[in-house]
Amino acid sequence: MATVLIIGASRGIGFEFARVHAARGDQVIATCRDDEAAAKLAGLGVRVERLDVTDAVAAKALVDRLPTLDRVVVNAGVFGPRDATPATVDTATWLSVFEVNVVAPLRLAALLADKVTGSMAFLSSRMGSIAMSGGGSAIYRTSKAALNAGIKALQVERGGRAPILLALHPGWVRTDMGGAGADIDVAQSVAGMVAVIDRAGPDASGGFFNYTGEVIPW
Ligand SMILES: NC(=O)c1ccc[n+]([C@@H]2O[C@H](COP(=O)([O-])OP(=O)(O)OC[C@H]3O[C@@H](n4cnc5c(N)ncnc54)[C@H](OP(=O)(O)O)[C@@H]3O)[C@@H](O)[C@H]2O)c1
Repeated sequence: MATVLIIGASRGIGFEFARVHAARGDQVIATCRDDEAAAKLAGLGVRVERLDVTDAVAAKALVDRLPTLDRVVVNAGVFGPRDATPATVDTATWLSVFEVNVVAPLRLAALLADKVTGSMAFLSSRMGSIAMSGGGSAIYRTSKAALNAGIKALQVERGGRAPILLALHPGWVRTDMGGAGADIDVAQSVAGMVAVIDRAGPDASGGFFNYTGEVIPW
């Protein structure tokens, strides 16, 4: 039985990660922000913690009360305004996307690293790949590219010590963020990512992977 922390488990991909690991018999600690999500997660039989990932004091306090962890999934993320461009977005809005998608996960990574014996996976996006950029959505793309840079930097900094650090693309998934017209459902996406995490050895650390296991170019 593994001890697994899921950051941002209220709905969508994060909730499915909590459900799958609970169903495997793992000891799951799942974070959310409101009562409704807490009740839903409690129904899975998991330990529920409250965290808004932008609250640095709360993040530190949560890490301090956690046990040693086998696996962490940092899932919380936002897309930001879909119709905004760098020409029209106000600075505070762009920075708020960076706060959730870059600052918060990398802070959690740094705070948690010494507590994690196995792997730490981050929900990135293929939209953060510079090599595969399709143009547009610069606010979201730049945030995930920055997240990827931070994950790689932490892996180099750890110098071969645990945890195994993984940037994952979940596919285009039917969630509130992905929309009803997306390619795959949360079950297919998360089953794929769990298999990728299960298989990942130290050589995979600092890598960027699709939910199907293929390497995604930075
Ligand atoms: N869906 C896709 O096609 C797709 C593709 C590529 C990458 N991703 C990435 O996959 C991850 C999950 O996406 P999703 O599709 O499941 O999105 P979603 O349905 O919009 O869910 C977003 C999750 O992030 C949490 N969250 C957002 N801001 C937070 C904050 N400040 N503090 C704590 N939690 C916060 C939400 O919690 P609340 O319920 O409290 O708001 C919710 O649990 C994201 O990082 C996303 O960028 C998704």
